[in-house]
Amino acid sequence: MIFESVLDLGAGDGRFSHVKGIYGHYTGIERDSKKVDTAQLPPNARLVVADALAWKEGGFAVCVGNPPYIRHHGLDNDWRNVALESIVRDGGPQLKKTANAFVIFLTQALLRTRADGLVAQVIPYEWVSRPSASELREYIRANGWDVSVFRFESDIFPTVLTTASITIIDKASQHGEWKFGFITREGEIRYSGRASGTSSHVLSYKNGDPTCKGIRGLSPGGQDIFVLTEEERLFHSLRKGVDVRPCVVSLRAIDETVDRLDKKSFDKLFVQRGAKCWLIRSDKPRPSLQLQRYLDGVPEPSWRRYTTCANRRLWWQYKPHPKPGLLVASGFTGKRPKSLVNEIGAIAVGSVYGVLFEPATEAAIVQRVFEGLRAYDFGRRLVHHSNGLKKVEVRQLNTVLAELILN
Ligand SMILES: C[S@@+](CC[C@H](N)C(=O)[O-])C[C@H]1O[C@@H](n2cnc3c(N)ncnc32)[C@H](O)[C@@H]1O
Repeated sequence: MIFESVLDLGAGDGRFSHVKGIYGHYTGIERDSKKVDTAQLPPNARLVVADALAWKEGGFAVCVGNPPYIRHHGLDNDWRNVALESIVRDGGPQLKKTANAFVIFLTQALLRTRADGLVAQVIPYEWVSRPSASELREYIRANGWDVSVFRFESDIFPTVLTTASITIIDKASQHGEWKFGFITREGEIRYSGRASGTSSHVLSYKNGDPTCKGIRGLSPGGQDIFVLTEEERLFHSLRKGVDVRPCVVSLRAIDETVDRLDKKSFDKLFVQRGAKCWLIRSDKPRPSLQLQRYLDGVPEPSWRRYTTCANRRLWWQYKPHPKPGLLVASGFTGKRPKSLVNEIGAIAVGSVYGVLFEPATEAAIVQRVFEGLRAYDFGRRLVHHSNGLKKVEVRQLNTVLAELILN
């Protein structure tokens, strides 16, 4: 089959044009003129120095691409605003401001291809489940286009913590069928079922319910300043309960047999092991003399490194964080994240999530939810990163909690 016209958005040196005998003419759009200047192209290919999102010519039979992977924080604000507006003006979806660059490029690819065109892109797999791409998925569904997403079995984006995919969207079809599978380096394809790579659905995202909800760990603005080891606590004469309170920044060192965080296990597993486990109580309006002395001793360049601190009126005063009933790790290998019943009311910090229950929730209910989490197969319902690490987002944890609290 010969495709009449091919568009490549973010074409680099136009290397995709080197595939012979399958297209009539190729147009690559690349912002970096250096890449274009040194490119060697076949006669039926051209490279244009331009912004891919400003490219208005459409009607291409195919749009290929390996778009840049830039998280929304890294995107230039003006560029993003113009790009998102232009997409809407051209009949595309209203994407969120949190959309990654490749989501914006993929949407542009859909707009610049003809009604029965084909879009084939090398992009991170995460777009199939991330909330930041939900409008794009909805737009594709509303058009009834077929989607095939193949994850690379090998690590082709080793420097970016994400799993690469080849995503193909067939606009000629109106079946709205989504297929998932794996692809080897050699291009062999194996279909798998749903987006998690198993036969279960990917966990959806849900807002927390007041009866039982997951919350992100506290980010006080630099754990090196706000979280101390026992030795550091003693060195600065900070008193337990008054100047510091227990906190958990990681559950990595806890083995699966431990299920409760009480005074004894906190002492054995965190305090005595020299772990960072004491959160300074600078959430209080008036810290004690000792604590104020500690805070005054933190050199300005140390706290200025953290925007959270630099943006505060008093650099050290963070907002109080509730004491969760359960502590749950966000990252894991295997079937599920580690979790603990939080009997001592430690604060969840950083990548550790907390599960809050309504006041006066019976201990038996907390225990039931905990046992539910300990039995739940998260691994089957999450998109895996290529290095075997899995991550549950807090709103996905809320989906699980909502199921567990009902049971
Ligand atoms: C991941 S590279 C892919 C290059 C090439 N397609 C390949 O596979 O080697 C993404 C390319 O997009 C280009 N790029 C980034 N933002 C762009 C924009 N707004 N418009 C056009 N090109 C852009 C980058 O300069 C880079 O060359």
